[in-house]
Amino acid sequence: MSFMNFTPEINVNNESLNEQHRRIFKTLNILFRSISRNESSSDIRTLFENFVCNFLRHTIYEEKIINNMPDPLCENHIDDHAMFLGRMTGYMESFENEEYVSYSVMLNFINNWFINHIITFDQSI
Ligand SMILES: [Fe+2]
Ligand SMILES: [Fe+2]
Repeated sequence: MSFMNFTPEINVNNESLNEQHRRIFKTLNILFRSISRNESSSDIRTLFENFVCNFLRHTIYEEKIINNMPDPLCENHIDDHAMFLGRMTGYMESFENEEYVSYSVMLNFINNWFINHIITFDQSI
């Protein structure tokens, strides 16, 4: 079973964005598999950083589109990306400092945030 599933409910009106979301989900599923298999923390960290890089690249692309929209929701949308990235940076710091990270809390947060974010914001693009 996959951790993140690309279902029709989270489809957005822009094929490039759908493709980027699919790619991000793939990086998350690889991370999830590595955690489930109890792989080394350095492998998990590398996969996590790969996910964050992909996500960051996606937000840069998506925010270019958002900034051209006259919608008042845009600011909240960009703030929500920033909040999520702040949280992911916190995890990166914890990995770097070899602090304990609850993978289940982390993965749950990522999963819930992603689905809610797409439905609340990305689908209005
Ligand atoms: Fe977004
Ligand atoms: Fe997005």
